[in-house]
Amino acid sequence: MDQYVIKGGNPLHGEVEIGGAKNAALAILAAAVMADETITIENLPNVRDINVMLQAIENIGAYVERVDVHTVKINGSFIHGFTVDNEYIRKIRASYYLLGALLGKYNNAEVALPGGCAIGTRPIDLHLKGFRALGAEVEIRHGMVAAQARALCGTSIYMDKVSVGATINVMMAAAMAKGRTTIENAAKEPHVVDVANFLNRMGAQIRGAGTDVIRITGVSKLHHAEYSIIPDQIEAGTFMFAAAATGGDVTVKNVIPKHLEATSSKLADIGCRIEEFDDAVRVIAKRPLKHTQVTTLPYPGFPTDMQPQMGVVLGLASGTSIITESIFENRFKYVDELAKMGANIKVEGGNIAIIYGVDRYTGARVSAPDLRAGAALVIAGLAAEGITTIDDIYYIERGYEDFDEKFRSIGGIMQKVSSEKEIQKFKLKIIS
Ligand code: UD1
Repeated sequence: MDQYVIKGGNPLHGEVEIGGAKNAALAILAAAVMADETITIENLPNVRDINVMLQAIENIGAYVERVDVHTVKINGSFIHGFTVDNEYIRKIRASYYLLGALLGKYNNAEVALPGGCAIGTRPIDLHLKGFRALGAEVEIRHGMVAAQARALCGTSIYMDKVSVGATINVMMAAAMAKGRTTIENAAKEPHVVDVANFLNRMGAQIRGAGTDVIRITGVSKLHHAEYSIIPDQIEAGTFMFAAAATGGDVTVKNVIPKHLEATSSKLADIGCRIEEFDDAVRVIAKRPLKHTQVTTLPYPGFPTDMQPQMGVVLGLASGTSIITESIFENRFKYVDELAKMGANIKVEGGNIAIIYGVDRYTGARVSAPDLRAGAALVIAGLAAEGITTIDDIYYIERGYEDFDEKFRSIGGIMQKVSSEKEIQKFKLKIIS
């Protein structure tokens, strides 16, 4: 099993190029099969979840051509099946986007119930409520979600809770429904807007994405398009927090600074200097950092996907910080791992972390509990004294491309290894 081995304590310095947003890309790949013409998608991150999604759409007959690692051509005209299931697709959350895409295009879809990181119960009731409101019959049987309709008809849908996945999924299905659909209390995340822009590029008529109310006029056909995915705000934020934790000076490039405002503002609160450019953000950090309070919220609030990385940084700030997790109920699993490195954090009621800052972390053997928590432990390892080994990096590779290489390019000392012998070799190299 692959691991990361990290020698911490080096302030990170330099520039790092940010890739395309994984969560936007997953939905866009699903939406791409809705056209019967060729779609070209650029700035695709080369990460495991994306490859699982490409495999899934290829399995149902779509033409998929990987032009290069970050570009793919997809043509949905060859699709011959509406059932999506394999052991890999069951592990990713975004498999549910194939429900909205296939239901919208063919009025028929059967997809394995979504998996994804175990960060909470993660129901999909709002997705199903939306499909039903559009006129589909939806059933869960044998671990699959089956949705069928004679015809989808536009309607007005109120989301009881702000959900990124449900908003995008219903938007996709409604893009090819008859008539007008209104989604109220819609999610406003940048990737909701990106998917809407992509669908519009294919000929859909979607207005209001990025606000609370999305209005869709259904069209009967979608056509060819070329599209470049937005930069990944979570990848960018992860490197920004790594700069803070190590007392470094890092510029994230190829980003949309507006998407990073919640992260930048919290970093400024704890004493980092932030410089914004047109498509880059520089974080200059000097320890000690100051304590603060954070609550995760839907966009434009502080993202839940940045919460573990923030927790690791606050663990090194002076005084007592508080994080309230309001989106998912099981997102503090990194706390036990971080305790092995010397952190002093208490979790109360499952969703509040009280963080008593310590001067330093010390290297330890830890394991990644999920994708973002795993990334947070890498940050802790880079800041810690001594050597950290991280197990289960499979999770991290679901969402970060060339993670170790990118950290090395800004002065991090870390390597991906697959045996005890390689760890020893790494240690010897560090000493010499
Ligand atoms: C997406 C992201 C995930 C991110 C999350 C919040 C993908 C593949 N994943 O997940 O990385 O952490 O947005 O920004 O894009 N809920 C319901 N019923 C539903 C759907 C959601 O109750 O039908 C609840 C969830 O349990 C959660 C909240 O709504 O408490 C928000 O979840 P949602 O925005 O849907 O998250 P995902 O789309 O699963």
